[in-house]
Amino acid sequence: MYLPTITDDTATCSAAALKLPCSTTATKACMQRKVSIGNHWFAICKAYAGYRTAAAGADWLHVLSGASRMKILLVGASGTLGQAVATTLGTHHQLIRAGRHGGDVQVDLTDDASVQALFAQVGTVDAVVATTGKLHFGPLGSMTPAQFNVGLQDKLLGQVRLALAAQHHLTAGGSITLTSGIVSAQPIRDGANATAVNAALEGFARGAACELLPRGLRINVVSPNVLVESLADYGAYFPGFEAVTAQRASLAYQRSVEGVQSGQVFNVW
Ligand SMILES: NC(=O)c1ccc[n+]([C@@H]2O[C@H](COP(=O)([O-])OP(=O)(O)OC[C@H]3O[C@@H](n4cnc5c(N)ncnc54)[C@H](OP(=O)(O)O)[C@@H]3O)[C@@H](O)[C@H]2O)c1
Repeated sequence: MYLPTITDDTATCSAAALKLPCSTTATKACMQRKVSIGNHWFAICKAYAGYRTAAAGADWLHVLSGASRMKILLVGASGTLGQAVATTLGTHHQLIRAGRHGGDVQVDLTDDASVQALFAQVGTVDAVVATTGKLHFGPLGSMTPAQFNVGLQDKLLGQVRLALAAQHHLTAGGSITLTSGIVSAQPIRDGANATAVNAALEGFARGAACELLPRGLRINVVSPNVLVESLADYGAYFPGFEAVTAQRASLAYQRSVEGVQSGQVFNVW
């Protein structure tokens, strides 16, 4: 089985290096090389995605993809969602757990200096994932700008601030994965702030992806339904919604980190 040949002279990967499975070492080296010119990088990703689909189930593809032992920074690792993401990603990768209070490193995403200090501490990483963010839930009729600003400053700007810093601390082919939520597309009562903030995060990722792709970097957003584990707290806001487990949602983060897509919203609902 062979990957499609990339014939453009300016591509740094030779056709021979892309042949599989006889040349997997060469291919892995090729995938990890800085093929930073957008079209070539995208072509390689497409070829690789096709190959993965064809060979789905082969465990060594984890190794081939460079997915094995990625160094991943997970902000929000102690949370309801973050714990499940940590379990899923931590199985294959070196995880740096970050949170406001706990974890391997502490960071406050509402503070520029704190985010800069975070990257000064952890250095370069292969992927950055955020499972954080506070929102304001309450009736529109009595909502104040200050209340609306809670979601803007915490969930929206917090994750955007992380992404803006992360782009300068990613290895070639690295990725950023943010978290929105189903209310971006399916509004709920008292949820105007949540719908606005989640939709803005998805818009940010779509726009940012256009500029990150030519630099060989990716960004996606995961949008989970209400979690089974959170029904006791938020269930009343979500009548008729089919809750998903945090474990199921965590698979979308794995897809974003280990996959090839960019500018996507992975809906888990
Ligand atoms: N739970 C759900 O049903 C659900 C559904 C869809 C989408 N979401 C979204 O998923 C995300 C996580 O939700 P969750 O329920 O897992 O929240 P959670 O249990 O409250 O966990 C939040 C995590 O973020 C960290 N954190 C909070 N503020 C921070 C800050 N300023 N800087 C750095 N880290 C901070 C917390 O660390 P500390 O504990 O150290 O403060 C904690 O690890 C949110 O964006 C939420 O809107 C949740």
